[in-house]
Amino acid sequence: MDKLLITGGRPLAGEVRISGAKNAALPIMCAALLTDQPLALDNVPRLMDVRTMAKLLGLMGVEVGPQADGRLQLQASQIKDPVAGYEMVKTMRASVLVLGPLLARCGRAKVSLPGGCAIGARPVDQHVKGLQAMGAVITVEHGYMNATANRLKGARIVMDLVTVTGTENLLLAAALAEGTTVLENAAREPEVVDLANCLKAMGARIEGAGTDTIRIEGVGSLAGARHRVMPDRIETGTFLSAVVAAGGKVRLVNTAADTLGATLEKLREAGAKIAIAGGAIEVEMAGRPQSVSLTTAPYPGFATDMQAQFMALDCVASGTGQITETIFENRFMHAQELQRLGADISIQDNTAVVKGVERLLGANVMATDLRASASLVVAGLVAQGETLIDRIYHLDRGYEALEHKLSGLGAKIARVR
Ligand code: EPZ
Repeated sequence: MDKLLITGGRPLAGEVRISGAKNAALPIMCAALLTDQPLALDNVPRLMDVRTMAKLLGLMGVEVGPQADGRLQLQASQIKDPVAGYEMVKTMRASVLVLGPLLARCGRAKVSLPGGCAIGARPVDQHVKGLQAMGAVITVEHGYMNATANRLKGARIVMDLVTVTGTENLLLAAALAEGTTVLENAAREPEVVDLANCLKAMGARIEGAGTDTIRIEGVGSLAGARHRVMPDRIETGTFLSAVVAAGGKVRLVNTAADTLGATLEKLREAGAKIAIAGGAIEVEMAGRPQSVSLTTAPYPGFATDMQAQFMALDCVASGTGQITETIFENRFMHAQELQRLGADISIQDNTAVVKGVERLLGANVMATDLRASASLVVAGLVAQGETLIDRIYHLDRGYEALEHKLSGLGAKIARVR
């Protein structure tokens, strides 16, 4: 099994190109289920999760073109089998995003329940409740959600909590429903806006994406379209936090600073100089960062997907930072791996108190989930000596060519067996 070997202690310098966003690409790929015409996508990242989604759609009969230079074409001329089996859903929770579009297009769907995952229980009750409000009949048997509907009907849906994929699933379904759907307490994440933009290019009528109230006027059919997937704001944030931890000067291109929410302010608080020019961000960091305290929250609050990387930053900062995780109940698994590198972290309930130390020392560590892995990479870049990160398949799910991109910035990092 592949591992990453990092020899830390070198500042980062140069330019890095940010890939398309995984968490936008996955729901947008599902939009292909809503039309028999081709959906041509640009800026699609080369990632395991994108391959998994392509495979899942392929199993349903969607024609998936080759992925080259960020391009990927999908065409669901017909859907022969509106099913997402356990084997697929267990490897990628985002598979549940096929439920809404399958119901809207085929009037039926069978999707495995995702079950728990490493970072928390993560139920899908809000997805189900919303589709039921639109007239779907959903039963759960043998671990599967069996859903049927004649034609989904627009409804006013007040979501109990802010859910990103829940909002996306209902947005996808409502695009083809009869009448108007209003989603209240909707997620405001930029990925939701990107999905809405793609659907609009396909002919959907959507207003308010990016606010907490989204209004969708259902249409009878959608057409094909061409859409460019937004840049990955979490990959962007990960590179920025790596530079702030390790020091140096890096220019990030093909990114979008206005999607980063609270991340940029927190990095400035840590002492980074950040300049924004169009689709590029320049970050410069000299000396040791200052610790920062943060609480994760739905967008535009501090992203839970950046929490682990900031914990790595706080580990080497001067001062003490308090990190509170409010979105997922078990998203501190990186803490004990960071401690193996010499970090001083104590956890009480959903708050981690991180006392910055003068230096981390390389060690063998284990990746436990995608962003936890990213935090170990950030820490490994700063730690003295060699850090060997095991189970990096987690990283491959969500970061395109991470070690190549970091090598290009002068890091000593290699994939080893
Ligand atoms: C999305 O997951 C992202 N995944 C996650 O990215 C991200 O961490 C998360 O949003 C929060 O920003 C994709 O976009 C594919 P939620 P999602 O539904 O949609 C609870 C990464 O590292 N909830 O917004 O599954 C849930 O348990 C990942 O790239 C319910 O109770 O997250 C959680 O506590 C991991 N019932 C909270 O809501 C529901 O029906 C927010 O989860 C749905 C969610």
